[in-house]
Amino acid sequence: MASPPKTAPVTTRDFVGMKAAGRKIVVVSAYDALFGRLADEAGVDCVLVGDSVNQVMCGEPFTLSATLEQMIYHGRAARRGVSRALLVIDLPFLSYQVSREDAIRNAGRVMKETGASAVKLEGGAPMVDTVRALVDVGIPVMGHLGLTPQSVHALGGYRVQGREAEEARRLERDAASLEAAGAFSIVLELVPAALAGSISKARTVPTIGIGAGPGCDGQVLVLPDLLGLNDGFAPKFLKRYASLADEVRGAVGRFGDEVRRGAYPGAEHSF
Ligand code: KIV
Repeated sequence: MASPPKTAPVTTRDFVGMKAAGRKIVVVSAYDALFGRLADEAGVDCVLVGDSVNQVMCGEPFTLSATLEQMIYHGRAARRGVSRALLVIDLPFLSYQVSREDAIRNAGRVMKETGASAVKLEGGAPMVDTVRALVDVGIPVMGHLGLTPQSVHALGGYRVQGREAEEARRLERDAASLEAAGAFSIVLELVPAALAGSISKARTVPTIGIGAGPGCDGQVLVLPDLLGLNDGFAPKFLKRYASLADEVRGAVGRFGDEVRRGAYPGAEHSF
């Protein structure tokens, strides 16, 4: 990483400060104490317990079936590993869309039961009052615009959003409204680079891009994706920084081979 991360715990205020200072924000989605700790030790600014856990770790086809209990379970686990990075937990589908009261109750449970510092929720204009209501009771909110996976069926698949002029203007308005409602940052997913760059320039709060080009104020990738563990997933925006799926298959294969040959355990592993 270019500049050394600060050692004190990262706060939502720091996010805005990092943008003002021109320092790129590094975010990974991770779901447990082990990988949360490794990401934290590597100096990321934020660990997001994304509802992508439902697909990446639980094998579900979509994020929609993720539950509040599931997010709290993974949030608590990640909390035990993450000590410096900002810990943000995704609010799952239908935990915040039905009513503002529901949203406060469910986001409040996430905060109380996981020890996270913020929640993330998806959507623009229809979610603005909910974001304001959460911020008003002291729950920091990260917004999420562009391809919002909880709306994948309504959007007709995992497609780049904002290619058409009208759609692009709507994304710009949504980003402005989320900022006005008090969101401390906004994820932009699968948005053309030029549009994401201009939205980022127009906003005071940082944008965190995924498939949204280099003009965003920070970048997020799902940790098992960037590690090459989730090797069945290969979208254009993903860069793999390791090939751990091959490592895992190789190591487990060697273990199996040694067990079958009677080479493991040896005397040095026995009592
Ligand atoms: O669920 C998730 O991990 C996310 C990030 C990819 C932004 O929403």
